Amino acid sequence: MSEILRANNVSMVFGGLTAVDNISLAMEDNEILSLIGPNGAGKTTFFNMLTGVYKPTTGNIIFMDEDITHLKAHQRVAKGISRTFQNIRLFKDMTALENLMVAHPRCNQENLARVLLGGRKLKMQRQAIVEECEEILEIVGLKEKEGELATNLPYGKQRLLEIGRALATDPKLVLLDEPGAGMNSVEKEELTALIRHITEKMGKNVLLIEHDMKFVMGISDRILVLDHGELIANGVPREIQTNPQVIEAYLGKGMIDDEEE
Ligand SMILES: Nc1ncnc2c1ncn2[C@@H]1O[C@H](COP(=O)(O)OP(=O)(O)OP(=O)(O)O)[C@@H](O)[C@H]1O
Ligand SMILES: [Mg+2]
Repeated sequence: MSEILRANNVSMVFGGLTAVDNISLAMEDNEILSLIGPNGAGKTTFFNMLTGVYKPTTGNIIFMDEDITHLKAHQRVAKGISRTFQNIRLFKDMTALENLMVAHPRCNQENLARVLLGGRKLKMQRQAIVEECEEILEIVGLKEKEGELATNLPYGKQRLLEIGRALATDPKLVLLDEPGAGMNSVEKEELTALIRHITEKMGKNVLLIEHDMKFVMGISDRILVLDHGELIANGVPREIQTNPQVIEAYLGKGMIDDEEE
C-alpha cells in the first residue's frame, strides 16, 4: 500500500490555546481511518488544517507526495481533497441536484465554455454534468429527491447530500466530520454501506471523525485518538477498545463497552 496523506508535527495554536499539539500521522491508500476523541479534543481543527481552512502554526501536510501546507482550500479541492462539515453547510434553497452541480469541477468552467463553445456544445456538456451528478445522487440514495430543496430534506438525508456534494468534486480523499450525527440506527447502517461503497467500489479514501463507538469500531481499519490536542493512541479497533489511556480519556471504561453491543 502506498501513502496518501501525511501530517508532520502539525500544531494549531489559537491565542493561548493549543488545539492541536504536534501531531504526526500517515494514512495509507485504501484504508478507512477514523479520528476519535472527546469534545474539544481538536478533531475538527485538524480537519480544518488538512482542508486549508487554517494554516498550521507548525508542521506540514503532505498529500500524494506533495506538500500542500501553503495551498488554499479551493486548491486542495482541485488536488483531490473534499469534506463534509460537522454543522451541515448546504445551499438550502437549491435542489439536491443543484447542490451537487455547483461543486462539480466542470460546472465552474461553464462561463468560459459558453464563450468558447457556444450553445449546443454547452448544452451537451451541461447534460453530461447533470448525468454525473445524478449518478452520485443514486449512490448516496437520493436520486428520487433530486428536485427537492435541500432545506426540505430530513436531517439524515441532508448529511447524505453533503457526502454527495463532497463526491461531486471527484476527490481522492474524503473527510467526513461526524457523518452519522443525528442519524438513527438504520440510517447509520446505510451510511456504513455507503462509506464501504465509496472506498471499495469508487477507490476513494475516507478519513472520518465520529463519536458513535459502535459505528467507528465497525467500519474503521485503523483509529487515531486525540485528547486535548494530542495523539494518544493509534491502532486497529481492538487495540483502541482495550487501550487504558483511551478508556481514561473517555471518562471510564463504560462509554466504549456500553456502545459496543
Ligand atoms: N477558530 C477558533 N478559535 C479559537 N479556538 C478554537 C477555534 N476553533 C476551535 N477552537 C478550540 O479548539 C479546541 C478544539 O476544538 P475542535 O472543534 O477542533 O474540537 P473537536 O474535537 O472537533 O470537538 P467536538 O467533538 O466537540 O466537535 C476547542 O477548545 C475549541 O474551543
Ligand atoms: Mg468537531
